[in-house]
Amino acid sequence: METSIGNIPRHVAIIMDGNGRWAEEHGKERIFGHMNGVESVRNAVRASVRNGVRYLTLYAFSTENWGRPVQEVEALMELLCKSIVNEGRELCEQGVRVEILGDRSRMSEKVQEHLSLIERETSAGDRLTLILALNYSSRWEITRMAQRIAREAAEGKIAPEEIDQQTVAGHMATAAWPDPDLLIRTSGERRLSNFLLWQLAYTELYFTDIYWPDFTEAEFDKAIRSYQSRERRYGLTTKQRREK
Ligand code: FPP
Repeated sequence: METSIGNIPRHVAIIMDGNGRWAEEHGKERIFGHMNGVESVRNAVRASVRNGVRYLTLYAFSTENWGRPVQEVEALMELLCKSIVNEGRELCEQGVRVEILGDRSRMSEKVQEHLSLIERETSAGDRLTLILALNYSSRWEITRMAQRIAREAAEGKIAPEEIDQQTVAGHMATAAWPDPDLLIRTSGERRLSNFLLWQLAYTELYFTDIYWPDFTEAEFDKAIRSYQSRERRYGLTTKQRREK
């Protein structure tokens, strides 16, 4: 079903959760859930382009995910490389530009080469920016921001009393993108799991019990409709917001 025109979130962020449980319920290995999750990534990208969403951020691998069994981590990295090779053409055709959020220095050389490849291959995309959060966590990003600002202060480039919210936002790894308007988390969990803690300050949250491999375009549209029914007040009253 189509969503109504207008009030489309400019930036949607998704915590893709439930691949492992989906696989277990189908009597399969966890990686089977991740493999099926790639189809849901395609669904989310297509639905974003169709709805006119301009930024889509996907939490694909957190800094904590390194702690998973080594076979699962390796299979996820392999799946990422394979998806990059397979999806490049369709992403270009849809006008999607891929960008990476996170510390890629810990990834293998092969993964880093694939990431550079997809960034180059899709750099002309101007309909949707697809941001893949890889080896990302909000606390990593906030710590890095503090180090970067402290370094500039120590070098005399910035005075401590001049540091404001714009300075902080400008030193985040996400500085180039607007904050998310809508956050979707699948699989029934209701937490942020170290994802975009600064950027989600005024974001509308949408939780669904659907496991990520079952997340269809229709489910994406449902989340957009829920967003469209919300009133974002940013700490003001309804009357004040209407008069703005
Ligand atoms: C969370 O489910 C999912 C992940 C940690 C990985 C997400 C990866 C993909 C969807 C595939 C590859 C991605 C791209 C961008 C091509 P979980 O394993 O934590 O599920 P569980 O909570 O049920 O165990």
